[in-house]
Amino acid sequence: GAPLLIDLSAIPVGGSIQVFWRGKPVFINHRSAEEIAAARADDGVIDPQPDAERVKLGHEQWLVVNGTCTHLGCIPANHEGDYGGWFCHCHGSQYDNSGRVRKGPAPKNLALVPYKFLSDAQLQIG
Ligand code: FES
Repeated sequence: GAPLLIDLSAIPVGGSIQVFWRGKPVFINHRSAEEIAAARADDGVIDPQPDAERVKLGHEQWLVVNGTCTHLGCIPANHEGDYGGWFCHCHGSQYDNSGRVRKGPAPKNLALVPYKFLSDAQLQIG
């Protein structure tokens, strides 16, 4: 399919949008300085990965993840739960604001999708 172009200028700090790319839900979160600091405080424990490997250098405020719970595929609710990220209402999994799983039964972090910045305000997914 064709790449998807996203105008980021309308997403305020702390805000987010959900789009669909190749039939998958994709969340784009504009993280605050506090959210970035929390994401960088540790690497997670269930599926450890540094936050720096989940975002683009120089654009750390943007998290772009596949919004499909890695347990059984529900779409978790954004900005809910105990870890500043996602809460899956199907069976209670929780993710932090790097999209890393913090509470099961989900076994893996929210998947990343391929993207790049065409400018500071324009994102291309795919
Ligand atoms: Fe998300 Fe089961 S599908 S916790």
